[in-house]
Amino acid sequence: MQKSQNVFITGASSGLGKQMAKEFASRGYNLALTARRVDILETLKEELEKEFSIKVFVASLDVQDSQQTTDVLAKAAKELGGIDKVLANAGIGYTERIGTPNAFEHARQMINTNVIGAMATIDSAVQLFRQQGHGHIVAISSVAAFRGMPSSSAYCASKSAVTTYTEALRAETHKENIDVTLLSPGYIDTPINQGAASRPFLIDLEKGGNILVTLIEKKVKRSTVPSWPWGVVARLLACLPTGLLVRAVG
Ligand SMILES: NC(=O)c1ccc[n+]([C@@H]2O[C@H](COP(=O)([O-])OP(=O)(O)OC[C@H]3O[C@@H](n4cnc5c(N)ncnc54)[C@H](OP(=O)(O)O)[C@@H]3O)[C@@H](O)[C@H]2O)c1
Repeated sequence: MQKSQNVFITGASSGLGKQMAKEFASRGYNLALTARRVDILETLKEELEKEFSIKVFVASLDVQDSQQTTDVLAKAAKELGGIDKVLANAGIGYTERIGTPNAFEHARQMINTNVIGAMATIDSAVQLFRQQGHGHIVAISSVAAFRGMPSSSAYCASKSAVTTYTEALRAETHKENIDVTLLSPGYIDTPINQGAASRPFLIDLEKGGNILVTLIEKKVKRSTVPSWPWGVVARLLACLPTGLLVRAVG
């Protein structure tokens, strides 16, 4: 029988991270769950260990602190006997137009969390996986990476950075025993988008978590989530003339 695998997730206290934790647990994986709200993680650990015969490690982690990210990943690997998959999932989103009050401060926070935080997670994972001799890195980007959208400039820029960083990572690790998966969700019903004016092609969280984990298990190189219609829509969005974009979304 194959030994059960260990999955490390950032941003596991809510939304996609929490749902992927539940989905991985139901498929028999052990988990290392991290986020700043550790009380939520403790409750989730209790639920998952009771329902499935798996081991769950939890730790408080702010991905903006790169040393803490390295230390928590090392501790999780020690507790679980190695880590097979690292999911760089933690992220935040604000919608504001450039030059309006708070927009720049929120942009700074998004870059620190979504870009620097994901890079710190991925960099720590690469170091661990080189020591172990194997591993799978999963970056959660967004369809927002395909086109700079009005009112979401910094969020789109942050996800575009995650996408290009991850593509470069795949090339750098091409000859190593390290797999790289880049996932770009469309709208999945979570707190990050619950205040949005419109959420085209929205899918529910359970379906989103199931698709994400299935794509991760298959070790796909890259995919939108779901792949249809976003695989086509995101590419069309990328080449839509600005006038049409503004008419469509303001
Ligand atoms: N839902 C969607 O439709 C959608 C679409 C495209 C991409 N995404 C991406 O999917 C990822 C998860 O988003 P979500 O939809 O699940 O949103 P969410 O429900 O708001 O969850 C965000 C998670 O990120 C964690 N987080 C935020 N800042 C953090 C920090 N500094 N350090 C560590 N953890 C932090 C939060 O935990 P704490 O607050 O407890 O730290 C929370 O667990 C994000 O990267 C988001 O950009 C989501």
